[in-house]
Amino acid sequence: MAQRRFFVGGNWKMNGNKESLGGIISTLNTASLHDQTEVVCGAPSIYLDFARSSLDLRIGVAAQNCYKVAKGAFTGEISPAMIKDCGVDWVILGHSERRHVFGESDELIGQKVAHALESDLGVIACIGEKLEEREAGTTEEVVYAQTQVIAENVKDWGKVVLAYEPVWAIGTGKTATPEQAQEVHEKLRAWIRANVSDDVANSVRIIYGGSVTGANCRELASQDDVDGFLVGGASLKPEFVDIINARK
Ligand code: PGA
Repeated sequence: MAQRRFFVGGNWKMNGNKESLGGIISTLNTASLHDQTEVVCGAPSIYLDFARSSLDLRIGVAAQNCYKVAKGAFTGEISPAMIKDCGVDWVILGHSERRHVFGESDELIGQKVAHALESDLGVIACIGEKLEEREAGTTEEVVYAQTQVIAENVKDWGKVVLAYEPVWAIGTGKTATPEQAQEVHEKLRAWIRANVSDDVANSVRIIYGGSVTGANCRELASQDDVDGFLVGGASLKPEFVDIINARK
């Protein structure tokens, strides 16, 4: 099996200011981080330049969203071209807050994924079921359908990280158990094997998000198909360093 490089993304969401984010940045810059782990911090768009110019270059930066075209009359939006122009190499797309607070459809997320990849950004593509969907037994159906739309818009999987984030676990303190995470990740990898290719199934990083903390990260990281994390709340705290270093 291909060795997949562990990937830990921080998603700062709409939190912090230059002072507090500067504090996290200096903690990360001076921390001892596993060099085998790829680390990317998702900054609010107005702080992308600040984050990129203050974070050590061994740490990547991600935008938390972008639009589906390069430029034009789209008030309030930012484009992959602008993100690249700030020296930033990643974008988070399809996050559950974009889907469920801002009503982004699978179709729009697919178009954004295609354009971001064409613009040479790496994409952290997020999927995940809501609590009622899990309780109704439709988790697989939901995450396969979301992954399908993403897959239809990807030519080069080398620049894609798939983030499985059950909506019921995001910001709730209710983390998926390692078994629950592994079960979905394994099924997603099998779906990719059946619908994309063996190579992509072996190489694509499938990361888990939803109430990951310094306390639960090691057990989650020990699961075969958990290739890293997307971390919200805890990415604003010093324990983010422990999460980055979770893989033994
Ligand atoms: P959380 O957020 O770690 O605060 O649950 C995860 C995410 O939304 O990516």
